[in-house]
Amino acid sequence: MQLLDAIRRRKTTNGAFLPDPVSEEHQRLLMEVAGRAPSQLNSQPWRFVIVDDAETIGTIASTSGESMTEAMSNGTFFERYKPYFRFSAAEMERRRDGMLFDKLPAPLRPFTGQVFTPRGQALMNAMRVPHMLGEENRKLVAGSPLLLGVMLDRAEYRPGELSSFYSVFSMGAAMENVWLTTLEVGMGIQFVSFPMEVPGNWARIEEVLQVPDDLELMAVYRLGYLPPDQRRPAIDWSSHQRKLPSQYVFRGTCATPQSGWDEPLCAE
Ligand SMILES: Cc1cc2nc3c(=O)[nH]c(=O)nc-3n(C[C@H](O)[C@H](O)[C@H](O)COP(=O)(O)O)c2cc1C
Repeated sequence: MQLLDAIRRRKTTNGAFLPDPVSEEHQRLLMEVAGRAPSQLNSQPWRFVIVDDAETIGTIASTSGESMTEAMSNGTFFERYKPYFRFSAAEMERRRDGMLFDKLPAPLRPFTGQVFTPRGQALMNAMRVPHMLGEENRKLVAGSPLLLGVMLDRAEYRPGELSSFYSVFSMGAAMENVWLTTLEVGMGIQFVSFPMEVPGNWARIEEVLQVPDDLELMAVYRLGYLPPDQRRPAIDWSSHQRKLPSQYVFRGTCATPQSGWDEPLCAE
């Protein structure tokens, strides 16, 4: 696959993966490309834990599902992320960022305008939406053949110091290499981040993965091979829109947005 194709086609997988185990060859390839990423002074602050045993994946899946139910039923998730939620294609076209919830069960559609209100929250809880989503999330994670834990070496990652920015930047570069390479081998990838949203739940993941004191668990991903027909979850979003260059690029100084570049370089 051409690099530019991979960059333009890279996306997050919201749906289920095939149950097929990820081959050792592909696991090794993903770790090789991660290790090729740039890092400050070539410090390579990243560490990875590969999880392919069903029991550990199941334990993490339960924590993820519970965390989603908790964060969605107590309102913190909607409160924290409402600036990114879009419910109409027109709004998405106007903003060109965030998540467009373009797949919703019919009973929920009339209430999209109220999602962020106490009444909307009470309605969703009464309709057990957080539980349904939590259980769907648990199944998605439990059905993934591979989880990848990403950690940073605390000797490099020192919050509040410049090194923490450098380390997180390097980790991001390593994960982008992994993300792009999943396309090359017919795989998909998604963050498993709901345990981060509920106090104490991330520590449960760290315990299951036996993360030592000198490492900080920064993220967990689920990975697997993509099914030919990717069925979308009951509640789903799309987020392939991007801002136009005139909205994020400046010329010379930040006083001058870049003009004349808003037509796509190549047909999307
Ligand atoms: C730091 C970070 C955290 C993210 N957390 C989640 C997440 O919790 N769940 C999820 O499905 N995607 C998550 N994503 C993926 C973004 O939602 C996604 O990259 C964005 O919507 C653009 O969509 P795309 O990856 O399909 O191009 C995260 C991405 C980043 C960089």
